[in-house]
Amino acid sequence: MRHSTLSKKDRINFLKSVPQPDTMAEEIHSGLARDNKTLPPKYFYDKQGSELFDRITDLDEYYLTRTEIGLLEQHIAEIADLLGKNSLLIELGSGSSIKIRFLLEAIRPKAYVPVDISYAHLLAAAQRLANDYPWLTINPVCIDYSKLWSIPISDTGRRNAFFPGSSIGNFSPSAALDLLKKVHSVVGERGGLLIGVDLKKDAERLEAAYNDAAGITAAFNLNILRHINRRLDADFDLDNFTHRALYNEPAGRVEMHLSSKTPHQVQVQGERYDFKRGETIHTENSYKYTVEEFHHLAALANFTPLKTWTDPLSLFSLHYLVAH
Ligand code: AVI
Repeated sequence: MRHSTLSKKDRINFLKSVPQPDTMAEEIHSGLARDNKTLPPKYFYDKQGSELFDRITDLDEYYLTRTEIGLLEQHIAEIADLLGKNSLLIELGSGSSIKIRFLLEAIRPKAYVPVDISYAHLLAAAQRLANDYPWLTINPVCIDYSKLWSIPISDTGRRNAFFPGSSIGNFSPSAALDLLKKVHSVVGERGGLLIGVDLKKDAERLEAAYNDAAGITAAFNLNILRHINRRLDADFDLDNFTHRALYNEPAGRVEMHLSSKTPHQVQVQGERYDFKRGETIHTENSYKYTVEEFHHLAALANFTPLKTWTDPLSLFSLHYLVAH
């Protein structure tokens, strides 16, 4: 076993990233000022929202996480062969993910570069991993991964990115293409991308995944309002809204909305927003792809799909793409 002689602390080195301006107020106001009100889904993930999301991933109805983990587990030997040993392993939106552990154990990367917007998440996860893997060097980058064009590390070896969970689905197809192009520039030619993508399927199963019986997804959706109240001195009354999730089949996406139960007004930083009864705030899109559709998108970003794994029920897909 390869053991580093460096202490745990010395094996965690945050890479410098460009400080990001706080654009929350601007984004919230511009979303609420629209005729069809919207809110950016990245604001689901305050501490409480991240905890609620972790609970979603354990729900019976939410097949995505366990199916992806099943694919990783079942095909880990082949995945490890494709990624190769000793590469730089970059994870986009690493959060508190456990999926990376399969890869770390199988490929023993030269260094692991988790990229996440939350410094607290990055630090806690890096400390746990440094503890569990004494051989591992960790170089976290604290940045919104959708803004990442390069990794400030002067290593010329092979790079692999890991983007699990079908988070790509939370971007519109054109924004997803943009993101894939950024990943291409991060991993460079011949670099790889292992990515999880939820598949198109019957509306019933999709809608159940976003309308769980225990109401966890509803609480997750409503929590975005609590987050705005706290950060932007707003007075959303959560009891005035209901969670709605539906599969918009022509658009190929599950949409989440918060529907106003009653005509009312909300103040955000002194700005007034009027709600009619039944008016909604569109909070999230979760695009679903067929394998062919995703391969097409990957090709537009100059990635060649080398291998795709799906489960027997064709619920979820895992792709290994190589940059050309
Ligand atoms: C993070 N993302 C892939 C989840 C999804 O399925 O779109 C977020 C989520 N929204 C509701 N449930 C889960």
